[in-house]
Amino acid sequence: MLSQPDSALSNAAYADDVIDLMYKLMEYRNQEIRHRLEKVGRAVSMLHRDVLLLIYHFAKVAQGDVLEIGPYIGGSTIAAAFGVRESGGAKKIISVEAGGRLKHFRIPSRNIFIDLKKNLRRFGVSESVTLINGYSFEGTTISAIRQMLGHGEVGLFTFDADNDVRRDLDCYGDLFADGCWVVIDDYCGPAAKATPLRAQVDELVSAGRLVPFGYYGWGTWVGQWRV
Ligand SMILES: C[S@@+](CC[C@H](N)C(=O)[O-])C[C@H]1O[C@@H](n2cnc3c(N)ncnc32)[C@H](O)[C@@H]1O
Repeated sequence: MLSQPDSALSNAAYADDVIDLMYKLMEYRNQEIRHRLEKVGRAVSMLHRDVLLLIYHFAKVAQGDVLEIGPYIGGSTIAAAFGVRESGGAKKIISVEAGGRLKHFRIPSRNIFIDLKKNLRRFGVSESVTLINGYSFEGTTISAIRQMLGHGEVGLFTFDADNDVRRDLDCYGDLFADGCWVVIDDYCGPAAKATPLRAQVDELVSAGRLVPFGYYGWGTWVGQWRV
């Protein structure tokens, strides 16, 4: 069950919004974007196709910029960049990647940051994304982000990094618009990071800062930020 939303939003309107999102995803599954994002998913993403479709959708409809923590070699970033491009708007996409290497069974990388840049070029979106090579919690990353994004300007926040989403929400939450779309991977699932991350998300939902819209793919939490 999804928890009760903010009291200002009636239960009926909230239920309609949640169902509308499910319906929208169903529509995308029958459109050309599904094939494009399946190609991206196979080549460069760990995320489920439905989550890539939702990131695409949120980037397209969001009233504001995109902040991403943890692109790895670019799948989620490319989905967001397609959405921004197809929105016709001039939204910024800022993506923060620590780098390093990973022996992933399907999409390994010996140099994550180099592969990320290469894949953004390959899918034709490198011009629309500003990459930051560093950890989200480092001083240099924080000041770079704050130079590019102002208070209330973020319309989509995606977090697919470690098990401490609370740290980054505490750090960057003031940059989010009311109703900013939020995508948090590993809310459910076998990954060890799921347990602490889930507790953090549940606490923020209870506090009314996050409003859940559903769980998609392999355990990705999707919802909105409330100011
Ligand atoms: C699960 S992968 C991301 C997968 C990607 N979103 C996709 O579509 O396939 C997690 C990535 O987050 C990066 N990472 C982990 N903690 C981070 C942090 N605090 N700041 C920035 N990047 C981080 C890792 O280097 C790794 O590349």
